Amino acid sequence: MRSHIVGCGSYLPARIVTNAELAERIDTSDEWIVQRTGIRQRHVAADHETTSVIGLKAARAALADAGMEADEIDLIIVATATPDHTFPATATQIQAALGIEGGAAFDLQAVCSGFVFALATADKFLASGAAKAAIVIGAETFSRILDWEDRTTCVLFGDGAGAVVMKAAPGDGTLADRGVLATHIRSDGRYTDKLYVDGGPGSTKTVGFLRMEGKEVFRHAVVKLAETVRHTFEETGLSGDDIDWFVPHQANRRIIDATADKLGIGHERVVVTVDRHGNTSAASIPLALAEAHADGRIKRGQLVLIEAMGGGFTWGSALIRW
Ligand code: ACO
Repeated sequence: MRSHIVGCGSYLPARIVTNAELAERIDTSDEWIVQRTGIRQRHVAADHETTSVIGLKAARAALADAGMEADEIDLIIVATATPDHTFPATATQIQAALGIEGGAAFDLQAVCSGFVFALATADKFLASGAAKAAIVIGAETFSRILDWEDRTTCVLFGDGAGAVVMKAAPGDGTLADRGVLATHIRSDGRYTDKLYVDGGPGSTKTVGFLRMEGKEVFRHAVVKLAETVRHTFEETGLSGDDIDWFVPHQANRRIIDATADKLGIGHERVVVTVDRHGNTSAASIPLALAEAHADGRIKRGQLVLIEAMGGGFTWGSALIRW
């Protein structure tokens, strides 16, 4: 069995914060942000737009795109580092709002790599027959964990949600199959202090703010992202030339370009949203997939490569025939 992506959806909060607006509040400039990151603007959720609210909108859009009803879904995984509550899971809130009473719903925490980890997890459930159809959601309200006085971090992130519907279907076991063809996920907890939130229920009993050593994260990102994709290339015998669309986690335009160059993937085959969305953590890949699917860039039968790296560190990649 293979797990196919049969629908995509996304949601972005209406409020857009430009670099110029940030420059009115903190000591930064549009020029600095664009040059270092490629980011020009980001969306910021309204007070009532919690992660479950925006994740639900993306899930509904993905179901509509798949032409499926909610009651066909027996697995919901929400990748998020910004859940509505410490518990219950944001996934169960979305499950209830969709009117689903069966199956399982849970959250998965791998920060910016969350969508890749969640897709890899759903793939295992679907390919093994443990589930028939899944919604995998990346939804984040990072605006709530940003220190808006800290110019080294607050300019980088945004809010948003993306979702895919995945369905089990038989394949031949070859690379010509549609569906998820390979996944690789990795973690190395020695790097916790490079990118973390300085609060939590078990430590400070507060939510805390995001803290990051940007240079260190950048350095590790390019190396680890290329490494995870090389595993996929070794396993499948493919190379950068075979990839129709590279849909990387959208943290920073310079990381995206450097990784594409290392992998031999031409920039015309890279889906980029970081300029308009900023870094939406676990939501960035499904947001980019939904955009490139909706505008007709990604076509059925094409090879799509996704990759991400985030706090932990966590990192991973997946190869999908659309
Ligand atoms: N506006 C203006 N100046 C700034 C800003 C800002 N927003 N932020 C920092 N600066 C200043 C610094 O204070 C420093 O000034 P100094 O030289 O007087 O001390 C100067 O700019 C250079 O700062 P650096 O941190 O050296 O700048 P760098 O070129 O490394 O760029 C950045 C910083 C953009 C954060 C970069 O390191 C980066 O992109 N790192 C990756 C981080 C990332 O993407 N994390 C996302 C989560 S992980 C992931 O998704 C992969």
